[in-house]
Amino acid sequence: MIHYFLRFTPISVFYALAVLWFITNVAFAQEIAHPGYEVAPERRTTGIGKFYMGREISFVMGHQAAQWLNRPSRIQEEMPDQVVANMGLSADDVVADIGAGSGYFSFRIAATVPEGKVLAVDIQPEMLQLIEEQKASDRIVNVVGVLGEIDDPNLPAESIDAAIMVDAYHEFSHPFEMINGIYKALRPEGRIFLLEYRGEDSSVPIRPLHKMTEEQVVKEMSVFGLEWTETLDFLPWQHMMIFTKRG
Ligand SMILES: C[S@@+](CC[C@H](N)C(=O)[O-])C[C@H]1O[C@@H](n2cnc3c(N)ncnc32)[C@H](O)[C@@H]1O
Repeated sequence: MIHYFLRFTPISVFYALAVLWFITNVAFAQEIAHPGYEVAPERRTTGIGKFYMGREISFVMGHQAAQWLNRPSRIQEEMPDQVVANMGLSADDVVADIGAGSGYFSFRIAATVPEGKVLAVDIQPEMLQLIEEQKASDRIVNVVGVLGEIDDPNLPAESIDAAIMVDAYHEFSHPFEMINGIYKALRPEGRIFLLEYRGEDSSVPIRPLHKMTEEQVVKEMSVFGLEWTETLDFLPWQHMMIFTKRG
């Protein structure tokens, strides 16, 4: 019997592959350990009183303030076109803009992926409505709105080449679950672009809970074994951090 399986036959190869698949996908498949959340008796201004890895999570910016996202001064403050140019995208890439808001970055990215698409994910239907209005007025077809949940970006597994979060991650009420969902949605070698106002820099005129230090971001991404590829520091106020899903 043993000798039969040791022989190189189509059936023995099939059984060997089945065993290999079982070992890698079932027997040793591990869920990533959740570092846990803590709730404080008191919250800071603009915080929700919930902590993740020592960081207090901030309030979600309401859709009523969406016009602030399109303020003209943002061009100098956040250099959006240079951010998109530095993403190194291919024309057919699928990019998820998580916490897309009014689509300030989604539409810029869409122009650089004419054969691909941008999945603009947000939890506020009013934000997605603004995106639909701009799509119609500018006749853009490769931006697709996705209604996310506070703990799930609602993206299929291994469906995206890159994800970008601009000024959004710090307000995710369930950062572990969100990055878990994004991680699963990324294809191997897919990249995460995480932009946050620099928490180390007191001259950046943004409230503390709406900023993040590089050290804190790396700590939170390390939970998933994401490789910290580089930080681009050409922006006046923000870190542009790049993480890669290996394997
Ligand atoms: C400050 S706005 C930034 C919008 C956009 N990235 C920009 O730079 O213009 C943050 C956005 O993240 C969204 N958001 C918050 N939690 C989210 C979550 N768990 N999933 C998806 N979007 C979320 C909010 O609804 C809001 O539209």
